[in-house]
Order: sequence, then structure tokens, then C-alpha cells
Amino acid sequence: MQNHAMNTPRSQRKPHAPATKRRGSADAAPDASELRPGQSIALLHELHILTREGRLNQDARRKLKQVYHLFHFIEPVLQDCAEHGYDPVHGPTLADHGAGKSYLGFILYDLYFKELGRGWIYGIETRPELVEKSRALAQRLGFERMRFLNLSVAASAQAAELPERIDIVTALHACDTATDDAIDFGLQKKARAMVLVPCCQAELAACLRHDKALHLARTPLAELWRHPLHTREFGSQLTNVLRCLRLEASGYQVTVTELVGWEHSLKNELIIARYTGQKKRSAAERLHAILAEFGLEPTLGARFRIPLDGLRSNGAGAGEGA
Ligand SMILES: C[S@@+](CC[C@H](N)C(=O)[O-])C[C@H]1O[C@@H](n2cnc3c(N)ncnc32)[C@H](O)[C@@H]1O
Repeated sequence: MQNHAMNTPRSQRKPHAPATKRRGSADAAPDASELRPGQSIALLHELHILTREGRLNQDARRKLKQVYHLFHFIEPVLQDCAEHGYDPVHGPTLADHGAGKSYLGFILYDLYFKELGRGWIYGIETRPELVEKSRALAQRLGFERMRFLNLSVAASAQAAELPERIDIVTALHACDTATDDAIDFGLQKKARAMVLVPCCQAELAACLRHDKALHLARTPLAELWRHPLHTREFGSQLTNVLRCLRLEASGYQVTVTELVGWEHSLKNELIIARYTGQKKRSAAERLHAILAEFGLEPTLGARFRIPLDGLRSNGAGAGEGA
């Protein structure tokens, strides 16, 4: 894969000046830095970012800033996949899991896919009414290369409507273990990149809660999750640590950062994984050690255990590349 820093994404060519600070919440016309050339005004109306009068309020302004911030991370990945992805003629392909109202998919299409004139976005969502609404909106806007599938993330890996290979997988606040299913999907589809913002995760916290007395008797480190709030938060953090190790052991280079601008959400950890083919044995070993240390093997072993055969200790995996 080409180093994306070598590309010059549009978001860097035309940096956005921060929105002008205005007192109160009065609506005001967007200034030039807040709208991009060619951006669909109809979409901004549909997403309730622009009022009927074409104005922005403070909330909408914040929302737009958040979207640009996320796009700033995704655009270089898209650009890379447009040039070096699975299908340089019809691609890139992107699957958005737990799409909800497909806010992310629509914005990505509008800011990137529309001008590119090729590439496909697939929104995967279990709630049929949201899928129907997204289909109708895509039709109204003429966003022809968007498809919405009423499927669970887990089922989508086998869906005939999706291509055998997918360049990019996104999952933004996909509930609970749907993030893990999205990683399964990405590994199966040999995704070149995965962009994940995990949501709440209850499964691991339940294990910690169940064995709390045992751990407290054994190690002072169990203080890290003694209080119920800490059990939940530590459970989420440990889950994300396991996810990162799993990705590293599967040949991905992982960056963990903050989805700033998402302050209203407690869940603003952004995991960006890019396929390099370097399957790290040390990551798999650490993953197994953590599962054993926390007594998580019986519950989470099936999902997180990585076969060590074929993983060399220098990090170069013997497995086939994506
Ligand atoms: C918190 S919303 C996030 C929506 C959107 N990604 C966003 O950030 O605006 C989570 C969405 O994931 C969907 N969802 C939850 N579990 C799912 C699963 N296993 N497969 C597909 N969709 C799922 C829910 O119906 C919901 O619409």
C-alpha cells in the first residue's frame, strides 16, 4: 500500500478554517469555510444540518465540524484505495456497518465518491425502517452507487449482494459486539483498511464482574475494575485492547486516536487499522496471555484466539496478503 502521507488529500489542500464563534444559538448563513465546493445542499437539509432557510445554528455547525474531522481521517485511506484498491476501475468499495441513518455513508459519498465518479458504498443495518429511509434518500439525491442492506453485520459477510473483497470497512458506534463482527467481516473480505469507533461493550465487563472477588483476592490490579463504573469502563478499554491486538496479529498496523469533536459521546475512541501483511506473533501471544490472565478464555477465546502457526516472531506472517 502506498504511504498515504505522500498523497495530498483534498481536506489538506483546502484546510477548513474553524467556524467563526458566534454568541447564542441564533441561526446564521454558513460562511465559505463551512461549505465545500460541490457539496450537496439538499443532503445538508436532509441531515438537518442546514435549516429550511439555508442557515446553520451552533449545533449544526458543531456537527459539520465533527463530520469534517472524521472525513480528514478517512479521505487519505479512500484515496489510497481508489488508486491501489481491489478494483481501480470501479472501486473503491466501502462497507459501513451499523449504519443507522447512514449519516457517515452519505457524507462520504457527497464529499468523495460523487466527484470521483466511481466506487460503491454499502450500508449494513438491522433496522428495516432505517434501511428504507436511506434507500429513498439516496434515490432522491441521485447517489446511485450506494446500496443499503437490511442485514446483521455477521450475516453480511455471506451476503451475495456484497463483493468478495471490500477495500474499507467502517463501523461507527456499531452496538456491542457488532464492532467485533465488523472486524470478522473485514478480515474475511481482506479489507485494506478498517475505521472503527467502538460503542458500549458489555460482554467482557460481565466476565470481570463475575470473577471480581477471585481477582481481588489474587491481585491488587483488580482495583482497576472494583467499582461498577470502573468495571464497565475497564471492560470497554480491555475489549478495545484485544481488538487492536487481534488486528495486529492479523496483519494490520493500528493507530488509536480520539475522535475529537465527539465530546458529547463517551465513546470517542477511533481505531484505524491499515493492512500491511505483517502478522505480529508477539501481538497474538500477548492477546492469548491477556485472555488467560483475566480468565476470559472460555467466553472470548473463540473470537480472539489467533492460531500461532504461520506467525513468525519477527512480525512477518506467512499467511497470504490482502
Ligand atoms: C448507535 S447507532 C450508530 C449509527 C451510525 N453508525 C452513526 O454513528 O450515526 C448503531 C446502529 O447499529 C445498528 N446495529 C446494531 N447491531 C447491529 C448488527 N449486529 N448488525 C447491523 N446493525 C446493527 C443499530 O440498529 C443502530 O442503527
